[in-house]
Amino acid sequence: MCGIIGYSGTGNADELIIEGLHALEYRGYDSAGMTVFTKNGLKTIKTKGRVGDLESKAKTMFLENSHCGIGHTRWATHGKPSESNAHPHGTDNIMLVHNGIIENYKEIAEELRKKGYGFASETDTEVAAKLIDLKLKETGEKLSAIREAVKILQGSYAFGIVFRDETDVVYAVKKDSPLLIGIGSDGNFIASDVSAFLKYTKSYIRLGDGETAVIKQDKTEVFDLDGNSVEKQVETALWNSSAVSKSGFRHFMLKEIFEEPEILIKTLDSITKDFHPDFSATIPDDKFFENIGTIHIIACGTAMHAGLLGKYYIEKFARIPVAVEVASEFRYNDPVLRENDMVVIISQSGETADSLAALRLVNEKNIRTLSIVNTYGSTIARESKHVIYTLAGPEIAVASTKAFSVQVLVMLILAMKLGEIQGEMTKDESTELCESLKEVAANSIHNVLCGTETIESAAEITAKHNDVFFIGRGIDNYLGMEASLKLKEISYIHSEAYAAGELKHGTISLIEEGTPVIAIATDEKYYEKMRNNIEEVRSRGAFVISFCSENAEIIKNSSNIAITIPNDADCLKPLTAAASIQLFAYYTALALGRDIDKPRNLAKSVTVE
Ligand code: AGP
Repeated sequence: MCGIIGYSGTGNADELIIEGLHALEYRGYDSAGMTVFTKNGLKTIKTKGRVGDLESKAKTMFLENSHCGIGHTRWATHGKPSESNAHPHGTDNIMLVHNGIIENYKEIAEELRKKGYGFASETDTEVAAKLIDLKLKETGEKLSAIREAVKILQGSYAFGIVFRDETDVVYAVKKDSPLLIGIGSDGNFIASDVSAFLKYTKSYIRLGDGETAVIKQDKTEVFDLDGNSVEKQVETALWNSSAVSKSGFRHFMLKEIFEEPEILIKTLDSITKDFHPDFSATIPDDKFFENIGTIHIIACGTAMHAGLLGKYYIEKFARIPVAVEVASEFRYNDPVLRENDMVVIISQSGETADSLAALRLVNEKNIRTLSIVNTYGSTIARESKHVIYTLAGPEIAVASTKAFSVQVLVMLILAMKLGEIQGEMTKDESTELCESLKEVAANSIHNVLCGTETIESAAEITAKHNDVFFIGRGIDNYLGMEASLKLKEISYIHSEAYAAGELKHGTISLIEEGTPVIAIATDEKYYEKMRNNIEEVRSRGAFVISFCSENAEIIKNSSNIAITIPNDADCLKPLTAAASIQLFAYYTALALGRDIDKPRNLAKSVTVE
């Protein structure tokens, strides 16, 4: 949603804050700003645009000897992207950066106006800052002022706060939005995630909801809502700083696609033992998987598409009915949940507001919950009954690729586990599949990554069009939905995904001469039907690009371009096809010169509704 950072130490705060904001920029990038203490007092710089623009602006100002400050990179929720709406916000006494949404900000603003406050921005954040300013006047003590103010706020927030008269202190408080405290040797940080300070320290404290923190150069204190000091566990980041660099790739997205063979094997090894499904590292008792009525998979965006592939696998291997729901719908649909159901939340960030809200709704009903999360210790991971971690490492590109692939892998292994428990799958069958999976990850995907010429030429053709259709059947229909989202979010080309048999029931009217139709055909049982659907659209002028198995002769012969994948077991091909369709979206966006890692209007972790 947004990225916040704060620093107090012996280093140059302006440089460290800018550096941290670059690392956080994937969380939001329509405007940026920072406030630092200089020898002439608090200095605030803000800009519409990127962190790079803020950096250029800062270089024109004398910020020498700044050793404490706060910074922010924004994804606009209240008020358009502009310099006046950029954070930090505040008064002469206090400046504040915020990640989250204050839901009752308008009512609070009205009360503040009655007390003489005015507002220079359209943001909820400025209201929060001025409420703390008012509480400071009333209480005379900073921590009390912060605690009194947040008791009034409704919504989500992670605040970094500085006060004019304390030149080496950053205050922090959070509710629902993530906030970490980095414990460094030359100073301490606050940040939305570890990437902001990973270059300087891997040690961090995770601030809890309602806790306040006082961060100084050589000391960090945490207090609960009643003002009692709280001992916090210092955790160690699982990633190192190279994980959040491009390592020579042109974009994070391409790097992360190329990491898929390695992280699929790493994740596979973490949830299997002797090529057999084994979740005991985080789920010690198999009873958790027994006597399940219906499985409800709840997620957003790409994670939801991984859930659809999970539905396919679980219904195929375990014969348990699965419902896949978009989290933002589920939470308001008065869902039908039975006592013996299982709810699975899939989330890369583990902080997506809609998915977290759905989880909390289910927890109130005492239904067993399992989360599949990539970010260690994230809110969704901590609040679900059990968690299975995907070991994809930090995913910096806003468009999710490697996280999707490992989510699909975990769903496949989970399906095998459930299949065995249900007696629908023998141990030999699941072991054979796990062995083949390792082959697919190590070889088939690797082969796709090493031979992208056909994908690149298909992408260049597609880049010339404004409308693209994806068609597929069964699991390939679900892959098509993910392929369509990937293409849309980074190339800005409109596209839709359709069950191949459905196109003729209306949408085929949109097919014109040259319209690109992307046919995904990995499942052998649908080759004939897919060939018919391809011929249907080609007879109306479509230009058909197919993603299909090497042995799918009838698909290849009926397509204008065929992008082939190795002929592994049908249920494993989607993992290889996923890498292909991700590369297809990447090269299409590249041909259009798009900002691939930071597409317009988007942010990596949507921590607001
Ligand atoms: C994926 O390419 C998108 N950036 C987006 O749909 C994402 O998958 C969605 O917001 C869910 O995020 P999460 O996995 O962190 O919950």
